[in-house]
Amino acid sequence: MTVLPTISFAKIAAPKKGTAVILAARDGKLPALAAEIDPSGILAKAIEIAKFKGKAKSVVDVVAPADSPVDRILVVGVGENDSIKETDWTAFGGVVRGKTASDQHVSVLMECDGVEVTPEAAAAFAQGFLLRAYEFGKYKTKKSDDDDARDKKVAQKTVLMVENLAASKKAWEIAEAVARGIMLARDLVNEPANILGPVEFAARAEALSALGVEVDILTEKEMKKLGMGALLGVAQGSVRPPRLAVMKWNGGKARDKPIAFIGKGVVFDTGGISMKPAGGMEDMKGDMGGAAAVTGLMHALAARKAKANVIGIIGLVENMPDGNAQRPGDIVTSMSGQTIEVINTDAEGRLVLCDALWYCKETFKPKFMINLATLTGAIMVALGQHHAGLFSNDDELSEQLAAAAKVTGEPVWRMPMGPEYDKLIDSKFADMKNVGGRFGGAITAAQFLKRFVGDVPWVHLDVAGTAMSSPSTDINQSWASGYGVRLLDRLVEDYYEG
Ligand code: BES
Ligand code: MN
Ligand code: ZN
Repeated sequence: MTVLPTISFAKIAAPKKGTAVILAARDGKLPALAAEIDPSGILAKAIEIAKFKGKAKSVVDVVAPADSPVDRILVVGVGENDSIKETDWTAFGGVVRGKTASDQHVSVLMECDGVEVTPEAAAAFAQGFLLRAYEFGKYKTKKSDDDDARDKKVAQKTVLMVENLAASKKAWEIAEAVARGIMLARDLVNEPANILGPVEFAARAEALSALGVEVDILTEKEMKKLGMGALLGVAQGSVRPPRLAVMKWNGGKARDKPIAFIGKGVVFDTGGISMKPAGGMEDMKGDMGGAAAVTGLMHALAARKAKANVIGIIGLVENMPDGNAQRPGDIVTSMSGQTIEVINTDAEGRLVLCDALWYCKETFKPKFMINLATLTGAIMVALGQHHAGLFSNDDELSEQLAAAAKVTGEPVWRMPMGPEYDKLIDSKFADMKNVGGRFGGAITAAQFLKRFVGDVPWVHLDVAGTAMSSPSTDINQSWASGYGVRLLDRLVEDYYEG
């Protein structure tokens, strides 16, 4: 199992050992310091032969000549001078870690002919480097065949050589806090359900108290008292009791209304009595991706001491089909007092969220509520694995999220809502039913949630396609992506701090 690299910062200087990484912009010109690690000028020749032009993410990889102090030199292209964005820097960091995963010492010269490498750019690079190194290998007991540094329990040492040392270190403190939050979310999603039940997940949330997060865990008994019949109906088919974890980060002014994030935490979704087919059901260990993102976000905000009052609420249940499980046709009463006819026990996420949302609204009177949930297969049919579906009753909040999505590279796509869809969940026997029929499944799910948010500005992010089964990227090679942490952290930073 890989140990994560240690990342540190130093002043610009010629690298002295191990692997040296040099950045080059579009014209492919190398910084002056490159000459010091390449006295015989082999680099210039390598670049010429490779026809290296500094195109973004292009790499020239050479074994250093005998007269060089280093062993290996990587030249990495960063592309066009004026079009390099933050997400590009994260990607460059990921690319470099990918190429150097088995190297013990890596020095990256964070200067570039014709491109200013700001402290934020250096921090973003480091973040991508760390995220790319993330692996969920704790259950692999055997070494892989190639016995390299990856299998040694020694951390790779990475030094980023930067122009502005103090400012870069400061920017890294923030970027690292976010990276740790993302990796916490990934860990939670990757963890199998036999290890991570509702109680165990709640304990992971509770551990955030070490960062100054106030955590309350509501038990079944307390939820019963509050009247959370919808959430409890889902939980009753499992021998493992449910939990509602409430995390509070008070980094803002005492009188400021909090903002709130709510996550679906179904630790495993069999579908219940409306059981899912066997193929691929193992993926349903990730049906707590929303809750994982909220927990990772709370970690990030606390670790970087965000100046905001933030509530994180996660509804933790397991959806199982035992002799006490709820049936199709059952009618449950939610905390709001509204009754729900359970047509399909596999539409359980909305039943968990409706009580969590109502509880949040009543208890904390938040400025807004954003919930994240691996809610529907339908959103994957509509948007694939790249965009999360965004549903909202508030244009301003939606636009803020869209802007945060743009800078973080965690895309969202707004979906329609309206009374035509809402009436599809009216029920013959109760106030509503929990499914709306074959068409527009992601939208009717959102309409269901909307009935529990009153007039609080609200966004529902359907992350079924983005939280798990993730395609490999420059900054993630793991099944779980940690989607949402970076996006929401940025929303808080750009619009709700100070
Ligand atoms: N957890 C699933 C949605 C899901 C599917 C997430 C695939 C990630 C990958 C959710 O609880 C569910 O089962 N939704 C049903 C709703 C249907 C019964 C109305 C679905 O999408 O099929
Ligand atoms: Mn389900
Ligand atoms: Zn589910």
